[in-house]
Amino acid sequence: MKWSIVGCGYVGTELVESLGHHHVVTVTKRDASSFKTSVNKAINFCAPSLPTAWVADSTVVFSIPATEHSPAWEREFVKAAASYGARRLIYLSSSTMYPPANGGWVDETTPPRLDHERGRKRFDAEQAFLNAAEEFATEACSLRLVGIYGPGRGVVARMKAGKYRLVGDGTNYVNRIHVADIVSAIRLVADAPQLPSRVYNVADDNPSPSIEFAKAVSRQLSLPMPPVFKAEEVTPRIARMLTSNRRVSNKLIKKELGFSPRYPSYEDALEELIQRPNSRVL
Ligand SMILES: NC(=O)c1ccc[n+]([C@@H]2O[C@H](COP(=O)([O-])OP(=O)(O)OC[C@H]3O[C@@H](n4cnc5c(N)ncnc54)[C@H](OP(=O)(O)O)[C@@H]3O)[C@@H](O)[C@H]2O)c1
Repeated sequence: MKWSIVGCGYVGTELVESLGHHHVVTVTKRDASSFKTSVNKAINFCAPSLPTAWVADSTVVFSIPATEHSPAWEREFVKAAASYGARRLIYLSSSTMYPPANGGWVDETTPPRLDHERGRKRFDAEQAFLNAAEEFATEACSLRLVGIYGPGRGVVARMKAGKYRLVGDGTNYVNRIHVADIVSAIRLVADAPQLPSRVYNVADDNPSPSIEFAKAVSRQLSLPMPPVFKAEEVTPRIARMLTSNRRVSNKLIKKELGFSPRYPSYEDALEELIQRPNSRVL
């Protein structure tokens, strides 16, 4: 299969690592010389650039967050990708657009919260991408990712570096997904015989309070518990993430695409992350 990974950061690199040599892979970065993993082509690419012949016949994974050029740029990107014959488009989105839910569940039918700029910009970019795919007759879907963790990223890495902070009493629900399970979701979407133009949440099975994860890491690594901050003492993005108190459902992607997370809960990944913090798990 041919792949174009547009904005090849943490998730994109994990996807590249999972692909065998029979895949033909092009990646983009703002500075392609910084990409150290072996691929067929690495391209310098910065918003609002447009793709050219390198996307032909490929499964395009678009992993760039909303920029100052959004949402107009996402539409132009899809239009260009379609004109060069991209096979299928996968937009990596975010659950940031869901409203706080007081500990309740949200799913793909939950109306987005549009009263904060970050969530609204992401929603607008995602919708522009999906609408353009329909307009230019190319298969596309969006994966709304929750908090990503994995080797070198997340609570274990941050607690080891002394950088993790609890916000409030730490009892609000936090949603997580291991990077290896995002890669599985992308592969499922890429391989699906037919793709409805759809949004899927990609989350593990077990949203849980941030204090539980911190306690488990503290116990297993004999580290002190992280310091506690008030919501107004951390960045608005972190405060929103840790105080939104919602649980993001993964039922739809399980039902329609057979998603089955290798790490249904952070507890399933903890030992591996502690023993082999930088290892690839695919
Ligand atoms: N971190 C989380 O917990 C989380 C949660 C939900 C959703 N997401 C979203 O999921 C996606 C994948 O996450 P990730 O952790 O793999 O992200 P990441 O490591 O930050 O990678 C993002 C990629 O986008 C590229 N990029 C950023 N701004 C750009 C611009 N103006 N023009 C061109 N390229 C640009 C970056 O380029 P360079 O490689 O040159 O830096 C990078 O390759 C992102 O859209 C992210 O926002 C993340």
